[in-house]
Amino acid sequence: MNDTHSEPLIRKIEELKRQKKAVILAHYYTRPEVQAAADFLGDSLALAVRAQNTDAEIILFAGVHFMAETAKVLCPSKKVLIPCPEAGCSLAESCDAAEFAAFKALHPDHKVVSYVNTTVGVKALTDICCTSSNALEVVRSIPDDQPLIFGPDRNLGSYIRKLTGRTNMLLWDGACHVHEEFSLEKLLELKREHPAAKVVAHPECRAYILETADFVGSTAAILDYCGQADSAEFIVVTEAGILAEMQRRFPGKTFIPAPPDDETCGCNNCRFMKMVTLENIAACLENEIPEILLDEEIRQKAERSILNMIQINR
Ligand code: 13P
Ligand code: SF4
Repeated sequence: MNDTHSEPLIRKIEELKRQKKAVILAHYYTRPEVQAAADFLGDSLALAVRAQNTDAEIILFAGVHFMAETAKVLCPSKKVLIPCPEAGCSLAESCDAAEFAAFKALHPDHKVVSYVNTTVGVKALTDICCTSSNALEVVRSIPDDQPLIFGPDRNLGSYIRKLTGRTNMLLWDGACHVHEEFSLEKLLELKREHPAAKVVAHPECRAYILETADFVGSTAAILDYCGQADSAEFIVVTEAGILAEMQRRFPGKTFIPAPPDDETCGCNNCRFMKMVTLENIAACLENEIPEILLDEEIRQKAERSILNMIQINR
């Protein structure tokens, strides 16, 4: 969308935000024009903490469904709006709450650590949540002899298992369609073409990609690394929406998106994140629907698992 088309919508959104005491929280993977309309931009951990601390009356969550649900779990008295409720997450959907409950029942002595990319139903079955920023810290906070279930991302789980050397950690077999699709062959080719470039990757990528990376971290950690690293060029192996923020923050550096196996599929873009547009944000703020509504018992159980995580980060 060009700027002339965006400007009247951005003005309308600004006006609605002011009238309704609303705040827009957006994930780094959303469209650049959506990022530009946000009051706060962040990775999933930063957005959860921000939702908890805002004094706005309405939170509009420009991101995928589980992220807006997380905001509602933490802020039950606020109205949490989601401009596009169809924006799901392949990772969250790879872990059905009833199936997860059955798996948990088979391992009653295990504590459950779940990545925040889960539905509220799975969070309610979880002892402690984590994000890609703090997964290592969360797992390390649990005594070594305590058996664990880690879900739903098998790549993040294997990575943490490798870093901690923990053998008592069972993994749920879920994955993200964006991060699983990166091509090792094409990444190695890019490295040959740009020998000075550092490779940065999200831990949702497959193990063979992570082994090739100079740095592995959450979207926020990758941004910090690119700012501090003594390099002017980076090959970025995560969702391509993050490049807008990289270019904004570090205009003197070059960022090259790593391609997926099938370059015609555009799958280094999360199709769910891109479903959030200025149009659906404006309509959602104006009509104050769709709103996230949760069962209170499930919400309270899910809240405990998120607060246990936030506690570790304090
Ligand atoms: P972050 O925790 O890095 O924000 O990642 C969320 C996500 O959906 C990654 O695909
Ligand atoms: Fe979910 Fe993957 Fe999209 Fe992140 S990039 S929101 S994990 S589908």
